[in-house]
Amino acid sequence: MTGRLDGKIAVVTGAGSGIGRAAATLFAREGAAAVAVVDLAEAAARETAAAIEAAGGTARAISADISDPGQVEAVFDAVLRDFGTVDVLYNNAGVNSAGSVTDATDDDWERAFAVNARGTFLCSRAVARTMTAAGHGSIINQGSVAALVGVANFASYCASKGAVVALTRSMAIDLSPHGVRVNVICPGTVYTPLMEPMLTARGGGDLARGLAMTTVKYPIGRLGTPEEIAAVALFLASDDSSFMTGSVIAADGGMTAG
Ligand SMILES: NC(=O)c1ccc[n+]([C@@H]2O[C@H](COP(=O)([O-])OP(=O)(O)OC[C@H]3O[C@@H](n4cnc5c(N)ncnc54)[C@H](O)[C@@H]3O)[C@@H](O)[C@H]2O)c1
Repeated sequence: MTGRLDGKIAVVTGAGSGIGRAAATLFAREGAAAVAVVDLAEAAARETAAAIEAAGGTARAISADISDPGQVEAVFDAVLRDFGTVDVLYNNAGVNSAGSVTDATDDDWERAFAVNARGTFLCSRAVARTMTAAGHGSIINQGSVAALVGVANFASYCASKGAVVALTRSMAIDLSPHGVRVNVICPGTVYTPLMEPMLTARGGGDLARGLAMTTVKYPIGRLGTPEEIAAVALFLASDDSSFMTGSVIAADGGMTAG
């Protein structure tokens, strides 16, 4: 442990699984005074919080749908009541949405935007007042390579992650004068529960085939791990990235390099 988040209060959304769970546990290991583990899936949130506490950290599991304004207000009211402030917000929760422009449904579009774009906006708005009053804070948004290059049969997802990138830049300009930095990570494919159905579909029902078809797109020769994306989030959460705001960071094994 290097204590890069010593004493900080962090909120990680979608922290019951995948990248969010890896980030929440890493933030705690790096000295965060408390980590709020927010997830739609209550049992999953509790599992992450229990793992943090078992390792000697402090965590609070909060079950909420980040696309719902009332639930988001309740989350941050509870965090402020229990911990007094929020220094770091990692807007990680997100959903996939398959379908091209010709076959995606209205619901596919609405769900992608509700969680990925509106959820990021709602959580950011909920902490912005606290962070600007404190004069410091780091908001980390979760984009995707799908915001940087087109991905076949993922129209709604690509558009919603593009919105997250645009929102990041806008928030960075508005909040930087108040000491609050806002950056976005654009991960390439990371092997998590979110990706299994997509990889299986890509492989025509064969997960191994879908994995192989995806890996060839990555010059580094493999997919990413949740821990590798969590490490980027830690960098952005900490003062190591103190001159960075509005940055769009591809963490993608070179996928968007060529
Ligand atoms: N895995 C990848 O390849 C990849 C690539 C690029 C971007 N991303 C993005 O990274 C983020 C995390 O992805 P992951 O692969 O770890 O996914 P995951 O499915 O393993 O975890 C996502 C978590 O978010 C939670 N969640 C979903 N909707 C929610 C809501 N409305 N409110 C609260 N919680 C909600 C889920 O319950 C789940 O625990 C997402 O934003 C995803 O779009 C993932």
